[in-house]
Amino acid sequence: MDGLLQTAMPMPFLTVPEQVARVPSPALLIDRRRVERNIDRMRSYVGDFRRLRPHVKTHKCSEVYKMQLAAGITKAKAATLPEVDMVVRAGGRDVVLAYALVGPNLERAVTFARQHPETVFAALVDDPEAVGPIDAEAARQGVRFNLYVDVNPGMDRTGIPLGAPAAQLAQAIHAAAHLHLSGLHMYDGHIHGDFETSLAAMQAPYAALKTLVSDLRRAGCPVENVITAGSPAFLPAIQRFEVVDEVSPGTWIFWDAAYSEMMPELFDIALCVLGRVISRPAADIMTLDTGSKAVSVDTGKPNCRILGLPEAEILGWSEEHLRVRLPATHREVRLGDTFYVVPQHVCTTVALYDEALIVEDGAIVDCWPIDARSRPSLRTVFGRQP
Ligand SMILES: Cc1ncc(COP(=O)(O)O)c(C=O)c1O
Repeated sequence: MDGLLQTAMPMPFLTVPEQVARVPSPALLIDRRRVERNIDRMRSYVGDFRRLRPHVKTHKCSEVYKMQLAAGITKAKAATLPEVDMVVRAGGRDVVLAYALVGPNLERAVTFARQHPETVFAALVDDPEAVGPIDAEAARQGVRFNLYVDVNPGMDRTGIPLGAPAAQLAQAIHAAAHLHLSGLHMYDGHIHGDFETSLAAMQAPYAALKTLVSDLRRAGCPVENVITAGSPAFLPAIQRFEVVDEVSPGTWIFWDAAYSEMMPELFDIALCVLGRVISRPAADIMTLDTGSKAVSVDTGKPNCRILGLPEAEILGWSEEHLRVRLPATHREVRLGDTFYVVPQHVCTTVALYDEALIVEDGAIVDCWPIDARSRPSLRTVFGRQP
């Protein structure tokens, strides 16, 4: 492991002082070499990239997706239609929108399928009530729409109960004239911990998933593909459960402080936020310009770690301020000093930025847009008079 978070030695992402001096803070930095290393590591974990469907919601960036494509990753998972668009613009041709279709998103998703016949595109459904409207919209637009049955492994966020309800839903899709059953989807984001801890928690839902697949196949209902697991569970999922065809982690591409604490060996921290000291309100406190609008706070405290200062204590934040208690060894901090802040949750932090600076071997080499960050444009729907 790179020891980035644990070391007391500063290990800045940037080492060219003239460049550091010019970066307006807060700014998002992505280390391209570390991303490449994470892709190499992922290859060594999954063996065959056909079994990986990386979630692009972590980076929302076509340039990062192009790196994944160039490495031989051909599949993608998305959470929004702008992410689906980004994947296709970047050259991807196989994307699952891991989201239920309600309201205007139903028509938009079916329109996307009609306009991109070259792309294997599917969405999720977890409710029998949704089947009729999706089938009707697909009929209206003259397409056969691909659906995965989303099952609930106990996370209780989305998903139909494993067992008879999921089997009936799968059969209803299989029987519908304008729908195609692509398979089953199970996201187990409530499972956290190292390999053995996750493995233990996965036994019951994965056994139920296996039974569901064999029951469906025995009843003549094809299950072509089974997708499960994010970053914590992908390794046990792919190595220990035969029922799994593809795993769909997202965070692995950049990694973050939360996962690094759980599984420090797995990937490198490839992203941080450059921040500066804007105040020293007390001898043991520094305030950085990386408030909740610069580094997400959805994890609660601590919402980040400071590179090179493993003992620093995150005291709290407001919109543009982060208050940090300095360890006794680091009280010499001055106004304007630069720090590299590693978010506890990288996905929600990336979504706060329009652009990221790309760093290679300590130097800024490029600037990439976080181009799938946007929502569908309301102006194109409503013009000037909503
Ligand atoms: C449906 C779904 N699949 C996959 C993932 C990827 O998980 P992770 O970011 O932990 O790798 C997520 C994350 O929220 C998700 O919601």
